[in-house]
Amino acid sequence: MSTLLIISHAPSPNTRRLNKAVAIGARHESIEGVIVDLRSPFETNAEHVLDADAIILGTTENFGYMNGALKDFFERIYYPCLEKTEGLPYALFVKGGLDGTGARISVEKIVGGLRWKAVQEPLVMTGDFQETWLEPLSDLGMAMAAGLEAGIF
Ligand SMILES: Cc1cc2nc3c(=O)[nH]c(=O)nc-3n(C[C@H](O)[C@H](O)[C@H](O)COP(=O)(O)O)c2cc1C
Repeated sequence: MSTLLIISHAPSPNTRRLNKAVAIGARHESIEGVIVDLRSPFETNAEHVLDADAIILGTTENFGYMNGALKDFFERIYYPCLEKTEGLPYALFVKGGLDGTGARISVEKIVGGLRWKAVQEPLVMTGDFQETWLEPLSDLGMAMAAGLEAGIF
């Protein structure tokens, strides 16, 4: 069995919907052999990362950066995972109020240091919640799980 870890702090009803859409796609009935573990950054430690075969990161943009929950996660796992998770496939989704660029760049800098490998384009959503975001999010989750199942990553 492979493990797909989805790490995303969801501080609002809208962001909980985004997380759910990613997890629904990743848990698609056609995909077998992949354990999908959706958890808050606060509940995630280095062992979870070391045990994961791929990761989806989700964050809101706060103060032009990733949210504090995800930053706290990276601060705890960075050195325990450095040199042990090089090449780990990951994808990213960002929800901003007006922008999401700062959050995207801040995550990309840290995963660049860890040498994780982006296997999907980041999804960046801004402004009022749109139903049209749900399908691409679900597709993102499904593509990551299907890629693991097929041994593509
Ligand atoms: C403390 C705080 C700082 C924020 N800073 C930014 C920011 O710098 N840029 C931005 O686009 N949105 C910012 N936001 C808005 C959040 O990204 C937004 O609340 C989040 O995406 C959740 O969206 P929702 O209200 O649709 O659930 C901030 C929100 C909070 C609570």
